[in-house]
Amino acid sequence: MTLAIPQSTHHTLTVRRLTVDLSQGFNRHWNGGDAFLTAFCNALSMSFPVGEQFFIDAVREGAKHLGDSPEHEALRQTARGFIGQEATHRHLHSLYNAHLEKQGLVNHWGPRAARRLETGRRKMFRTSAKGHLHELAITAAYEHFTALFGDLTLEHVDQPGDWFANADEPLKTLWRWHAAEESEHKSVAFDLYVALGGNHTWRMRWFNYVVVQFTLDTLRQTVNNLWRDRTLHKPSTWASAARFLFGQQGLVRRIAQPLKAYRRPDFHPTQVGHSDLASQWLNNHAHQWRAVGASAQA
Ligand SMILES: [Fe+2]
Ligand SMILES: [Fe+2]
Repeated sequence: MTLAIPQSTHHTLTVRRLTVDLSQGFNRHWNGGDAFLTAFCNALSMSFPVGEQFFIDAVREGAKHLGDSPEHEALRQTARGFIGQEATHRHLHSLYNAHLEKQGLVNHWGPRAARRLETGRRKMFRTSAKGHLHELAITAAYEHFTALFGDLTLEHVDQPGDWFANADEPLKTLWRWHAAEESEHKSVAFDLYVALGGNHTWRMRWFNYVVVQFTLDTLRQTVNNLWRDRTLHKPSTWASAARFLFGQQGLVRRIAQPLKAYRRPDFHPTQVGHSDLASQWLNNHAHQWRAVGASAQA
């Protein structure tokens, strides 16, 4: 089955430099004094340097297989913006993670993901003619999660269900900016996969793999962060986790539909979320970033 890519998703992505200062570090419980919310977000941050480098490599490799048609040319241009955006995220989260290390947390997720990736490259991605499609299918699946989290972050700003309502700066701005760009570039890896002939069967196989790995990795690193923080056994930690997962505005309730939607053969990332949330946040916070151009970092 061949899928049409909506033309509206082919646009130049702005690469932004965020004007936040991470040099001074941040509080141990920077997310509103909430140990669970802090540990959960910190766990995600720990995965980004390795994960986002993988996404960059997958999209860069995929773009090399595009042809000369105007549609492919437009997609190549969008891919450059994607690479620039992810490179900036990767850089800022590396600075962020260095402070986590100083706070005594240990990143197990990053090294584990790097080992897994090395095995994947040796056995499949770099030894098969379709290796680039496998890497893109994995990237598209992870990008579905990051876009979902991005949309959910921006959906309830300053309302019940806002994960960063009481977060300290500069991390509040860092997370919302990252959320906006994840939402903005959510179609890129998916569109490349489809444009290069990726099929639904493998898209589903890798999605199932990513759902399991991402859930387990997030859980393991969050628990480890809480254990090192000596807050794992506090009732308030578990109350916050229960609220976050199963509350009125809980994660499980909010992601069930979009996760199911990804399984449809005619799915496209633009069918879920709200495309204007990201642009609204970026416009409202234009004083906190400046454009540095897409091709500069591609
Ligand atoms: Fe990112
Ligand atoms: Fe992304």
